[in-house]
Amino acid sequence: MHTLKFIAEGDSAILIGPPGTGKSHVAKAIAYAAVRSSLRVLYAEADEALGRLAFAAPAEKRKLMKPFIDADLLVFDDLFLARRLPPECADTFQSILHQRYKLRRSSLITSNRVMDDWHTFLGDAALTTAVLDRLLHRSVLVEFRGKSYRLKEAASRLAKGNHSE
Ligand SMILES: Nc1ncnc2c1ncn2[C@@H]1O[C@H](COP(=O)(O)OP(=O)(O)O)[C@@H](O)[C@H]1O
Ligand SMILES: [Mg+2]
Repeated sequence: MHTLKFIAEGDSAILIGPPGTGKSHVAKAIAYAAVRSSLRVLYAEADEALGRLAFAAPAEKRKLMKPFIDADLLVFDDLFLARRLPPECADTFQSILHQRYKLRRSSLITSNRVMDDWHTFLGDAALTTAVLDRLLHRSVLVEFRGKSYRLKEAASRLAKGNHSE
């Protein structure tokens, strides 16, 4: 399938844009299509997964990291959602991307944060350069724009007088 070509070629994809513009929707659709064609896919909420990996005991960490390296497609959804990553998480992120890059495995990252600000959220300029260098070498960068679908959905619920959910 056309959308899966970038995975076969080991390219990465970065989806950037404001909240509610459909980044996770597209990321999950790609992940689903990849699963359907028998690829190994790991989908994770980025900040939460990095926290779990970074602060695990060393032996546990090796075990937890393996699927993040082995997957044909790794989806890191909503990177830098909350705030700046602690240094341990930034290092783990760098290490995962570096290993996947060497193995030519595809990573898909979604984020609300424009790349110009990533150094702030990773907390280290050299590390950010290393990350972006690998990510951008073979990748598709897609910018999401426009109004939030979530706000549109909420507005139409209000208009219908249905305030639940
Ligand atoms: N192309 C689309 N058409 C209709 N609804 C969409 C579309 N893309 C996303 N949505 C809906 O809009 C909401 C926000 O989308 P989401 O992918 O979570 O945004 P983001 O990850 O950019 O914050 C979700 O409820 C999702 O189902
Ligand atoms: Mg999202």
